[in-house]
Amino acid sequence: RHNLNISSIQIFMLSVTFCNSPTMIVMVGLPARGKTYISKKLTRYLNWIGVPTKMFNVGQYRREAVKIYKNFEFFKTDNEEAMRIQQNITQNISNESPKTQSHNLERRAVINSFAKEKGYKVFFVESICDDPEIIAENIKQVKFGSPDYVDRDIDDAMEDFVQRIECYKANYKSIDDEKDRKLSYIKIFDVGSRYLVNRVQDHIQSRIVYYLMNIHVTPRSIYLSRHGESELNLLGRIGGDSGLSPRGQKYANALATFIKGQKISDLKVWTSHMKRTIQTAEALGVPYEQWKALNEIDAGVCEELTYEEIQENLPEEFALRDQDKYRYRYPKGESYEDLVHRLEPVIMELERQENVLVVCHQAVMRCLLAYFLDKPADELPYLRCPLHTVLKLTPIAYGCKVEPFFLNIEAVNTHRERPGVSFHKHTSVIIDTYLCQLSALWDVAYCASDGRQ
Ligand code: ADP
Ligand code: F6P
Repeated sequence: RHNLNISSIQIFMLSVTFCNSPTMIVMVGLPARGKTYISKKLTRYLNWIGVPTKMFNVGQYRREAVKIYKNFEFFKTDNEEAMRIQQNITQNISNESPKTQSHNLERRAVINSFAKEKGYKVFFVESICDDPEIIAENIKQVKFGSPDYVDRDIDDAMEDFVQRIECYKANYKSIDDEKDRKLSYIKIFDVGSRYLVNRVQDHIQSRIVYYLMNIHVTPRSIYLSRHGESELNLLGRIGGDSGLSPRGQKYANALATFIKGQKISDLKVWTSHMKRTIQTAEALGVPYEQWKALNEIDAGVCEELTYEEIQENLPEEFALRDQDKYRYRYPKGESYEDLVHRLEPVIMELERQENVLVVCHQAVMRCLLAYFLDKPADELPYLRCPLHTVLKLTPIAYGCKVEPFFLNIEAVNTHRERPGVSFHKHTSVIIDTYLCQLSALWDVAYCASDGRQ
């Protein structure tokens, strides 16, 4: 059983259990080097691919112990009172994650011996960056939003944070290529312009390395859209490979106008291999790339049936799907879990690219959205991805901003509610109401995924 915990101790730590052999991933680096950012992203990715992951952040423990943050002097190594508090924090954290002490090298040694004792593997991720412009930008992006600096003047906060980094520098020791050559680690230099990878021990570590080598921080947006309404959508039939309905074709044209209006430089357009996404992308009049991996969930023996027909003809299958929609696999078809695995290369490529429009399908869009919004497996198959609505995803701070754009072309509602959830009768037909709910839902998602440190 996979199990992964991420913990953070000025350093951040992850602990992974993979193939019955747990691993801890320890984040190393000075403040504002992207440790929280990387930890959150990696946690989200690992959870999405099915490796349960948890992140612990020592900054939060410190804030709980020291309710009011005054200034950087707390972090000075000659501040005995503060060091005592840090020791206490260490004690508290030790229940959930390995013990830590104030010195970086000692911390690493303690983590190593803790891991040895428990039989865990350890993988270090160090972020090294000394470009003052990048650090200042990082501080602006995420640190001013921190509870430490609520109501603080911006220049004052910047000055304090810079001093805080200086305090950490007094103790900070980079992983040593010679002395630490037995350790497993990746060093990330200057936001990924160079990497040094040492002693990758297993599959999970190589996946982590591969992921970290593909992500970037260049500002961009990802646009997710389903195809325009299809002929089979109109009939309430799932799957198949039908073309667009007249309203679907109208949406394709509206999407083209919308995308033009976004004035995006160098937009990549991706579709599945299915007619309805290709016809939608054709209207854009730009080159597009077809991905088989983006094809809609294969409903196997249920392809081209309506939900009512499935309930009537295959009542057991219908009930089983309702019990665990994420894991349920259609006979001769796929589950959402299968779909997530099929989509992993798409996510990896989305991480590498900048502006991309993905024209896809209901189940596929739910899987992609769940990755970006950090949605758990049981919510994933019920995420709302209505027809004729573009979702614009823009990375901000540690999360992702979602803006829904309904392009004002009516369409059938293909969303089937989670059984047991009563939904206002009109919401399934009145698209406006539907979208209001949608925006409210995403506001919440957006806030939840933007928890600053
Ligand atoms: P830390 O946890 O190390 O104090 P944060 O994670 O809070 O730092 O910093 C977030 C900022 O770091 C974001 O603005 C993000 O763009 C940036 N960032 C992400 N990855 C890196 C990296 N490898 N090196 C430097 N900065 C990075
Ligand atoms: O109904 C449109 C559709 O894309 C089908 O092709 C697909 O089987 C279905 O949506 C997926 O949604 P759900 O998992 O809710 O049945």
